[in-house]
Formats: sequence, structure tokens, C-alpha cells
Amino acid sequence: MTNDNAENQRDTAPDRRNFYGRHHGKTLRSSQKTYLQEDLERLRPPGTSRTDNPDRTPVNPAQFFGDARPLWLEIGFGGGEHLVHMAALNPNVGIIGCEPFVNGVAMLLGKIRQADVTNLRVHPEDVRDLFDILPDACIAKTFLNYPDPWPKARHHRRRFVTQNHLKPLARVMQPGAELRIATDIDDYVRQTLEEVPQAGFNLLSNTATPWADWISTRYEQKAIREGRPQHYLTYRRK
Ligand SMILES: C[S@@+](CC[C@H](N)C(=O)[O-])C[C@H]1O[C@@H](n2cnc3c(N)ncnc32)[C@H](O)[C@@H]1O
Repeated sequence: MTNDNAENQRDTAPDRRNFYGRHHGKTLRSSQKTYLQEDLERLRPPGTSRTDNPDRTPVNPAQFFGDARPLWLEIGFGGGEHLVHMAALNPNVGIIGCEPFVNGVAMLLGKIRQADVTNLRVHPEDVRDLFDILPDACIAKTFLNYPDPWPKARHHRRRFVTQNHLKPLARVMQPGAELRIATDIDDYVRQTLEEVPQAGFNLLSNTATPWADWISTRYEQKAIREGRPQHYLTYRRK
């Protein structure tokens, strides 16, 4: 399969929504094209792609893993290191990772092969497309690690921590569910502290010390090399 065909499998239709990030990066290695071709379809949560579900009918998340295990969500998993780490640490949980950047998806698929974890599903798209079809209160924990910073003031409304993103997230999270946010941008912390409570979350902690089960991500390593501080915020859904 060519790179183009592999990407078509991702159901990409960029005009559907304003997504300002990147869908493609540098040319994929042939091994990565193989992962996309051989593994992605099997790992997608059933009934969530536009091909499988063009009318965007609500899905039953129990179908994702074939049982009623707790479901966690990682939004923007980048290279997938945190996602695979959490899946390996929590084998009784099912984790859905969302990432529209095809190079990141390919990196994750390579890591899944190496780690041999089975409790992951991959939504290679914007998480908002998943919010549209998930029922209320089905997610028990959400990770938002180093969301795109959008540093210019006129772009702050593109940040994930805006009501357009947070309200649908709050709807799908269970009462009492944990939301973790890591960022290296002071102004992102400011906006997070303002916006996340408005969407129905209580702040539990805001610290420079990572969670006990944290694994540093690619983006965090870059931030550390470039001398930026780390902020770890924990919220609880009301
Ligand atoms: C700065 S990167 C951080 C990646 C990774 N979490 C890390 O810490 O290395 C932010 C990622 O979020 C993804 N992203 C942005 N908006 C998204 C959305 N609406 N749904 C899913 N992923 C999104 C981007 O494609 C990008 O890969």
C-alpha cells in the first residue's frame, strides 16, 4: 500500500472541522507504512470511523474491548510513549488514544508491536469526532499531555482548554473521573485554571512534580532541553 493509501485508511476529511495542527510530517519509513497497513484497522474502536459510521450514530463503548472494563482516553498521544506505558501498567483498563498526526500514529503502532499490549485502541483522528458519538459518562480518566501551546494571543482560542473542547469532554467523563493535564507553558496554565472549572471540573492539584506513574513524553523532553518548566494539573469531574 502506498503512503497515500495508508493515510486514506485514516478517514481523513480535513474540512470537517477546524483542525489547526499537522496531519502529516516527514515521509514515513517503510516499516511504519506496514504498521499502518497491517495494524491500524484492527486497532480502531469499532463503529467510530466515518466509513463504518457515516451517520455518526452513538456507539456502545463496551464494543471497543468486548467487555465493560473501565475506559480511559489520551488526547493527542504524539509518539505514543505515555499511552503504551499506561496500557502496560493498567492491563484491566482499556485506553483509547486519539491523534490526527499520521507520523505519530505510525510511531505508536511500532511501539504497540514491541510492547505487545492488547488493551489499546487507536482513533487516528481529532478527538472531537469521537466525542460526537460517545455516550455520556463513559470515560473514567483522561490524559491531555502537552497540548499544542498556540502561543500567540490571537490563537489562544485554538487551545484545547476552551469550552468548545472541554464541554464535550466533560459530557463523556464520569462523575468523579480524573483529568490530567501536563504543559510547559505558563500562559497555558493560566487559561487552564480559568477554563477547565467552567466546564465542570474541580482542581485537585497544580504542581511541578509529575504523577507517580508518569513517563516523560517526547514533547516534555524537548521542553526540558529548551529550559521550560513543567506543570502537572489534576482535575476531578464534578
Ligand atoms: C505538542 S504535541 C504533544 C504530543 C504528546 N502528548 C507529547 O507529550 O509528546 C500535541 C499533540 O496533540 C495533537 N492534537 C491536537 N489537537 C488534537 C485533537 N483535537 N484531537 C486529538 N489530538 C490532537 C496534535 O496532533 C499533537 O500531536
